[in-house]
Amino acid sequence: MDKYDLYSRSVQDPAGEVRDFRKFYRQLKGRTPKSFREDFCGTFSVCCEWVKLGPDYTARGLDLDKEPLNYGRKRYLSALTPAQRRRVKPMLKNALKPGGPASDLIVAQNFSYFTFKKRKTLLAYFVSCRKSLRPGGVLILDAFGGGDTLRPNSESTRYGNLTFYWEQYSYDQITHEAHFAIHFKTRGGRKIKNVFTYDWRLWTIAEIRDLLAEAGFRKSHVYWEDDDGKFKRVEKGVDESAWVTMVLAEK
Ligand SMILES: C[S@@+](CC[C@H](N)C(=O)[O-])C[C@H]1O[C@@H](n2cnc3c(N)ncnc32)[C@H](O)[C@@H]1O
Repeated sequence: MDKYDLYSRSVQDPAGEVRDFRKFYRQLKGRTPKSFREDFCGTFSVCCEWVKLGPDYTARGLDLDKEPLNYGRKRYLSALTPAQRRRVKPMLKNALKPGGPASDLIVAQNFSYFTFKKRKTLLAYFVSCRKSLRPGGVLILDAFGGGDTLRPNSESTRYGNLTFYWEQYSYDQITHEAHFAIHFKTRGGRKIKNVFTYDWRLWTIAEIRDLLAEAGFRKSHVYWEDDDGKFKRVEKGVDESAWVTMVLAEK
């Protein structure tokens, strides 16, 4: 089983994501971001799409786990032109201690920062991101929630011959800690359970924005995903039992 291939076929749209990130940044700042950092980058396929946007686009991807990084080197980095390849830097690094040059844009996607369960750790992460941004830089985080996520639940989605299952095993009403898993089934194959598992705290948008302000970000904005998968900036939340948003924070 190639679990990263199954993941990319169901969860990711790197080319669409980088176009959205650039568009959001341009809307906020009126200029084009060139240096990009992807925290919790896994196979860093998003970094590899970023450098395709033009000859002066650079990307760094940070992940703690060398397995997805090595997969990304074989599958995505090797598919780039030599010039593009030189502008991508996958790094085995903790996102809490990034080091390296400052970036125009930092993204943390697929809710990966929910791994930071303590307020002081998430605050430290946001402070570190702010310091690692160039003047006028932007941090983009995704977030999800809604009433459905306050109890165990599961859903499945078909992508051609692949069925993707997202299962929430638990939710603690006191700590907001929750356990999730991804399962896959290919047509004619058996269901493979717990291919990816996550032990997270479900942070609310209000908590995230308060912490961003405390970390010194000047402003934050919320972009709500509509039924077509497009993100629109909103001032008020939408009454939905399950939702996905992007939170953008301006340095
Ligand atoms: C949900 S996956 C997301 C992968 C990638 N963003 C994607 O969409 O394909 C979470 C990733 O975060 C990495 N990770 C967890 N804690 C980390 C940390 N403190 N610093 C860097 N990476 C971390 C894990 O190794 C894993 O690859």
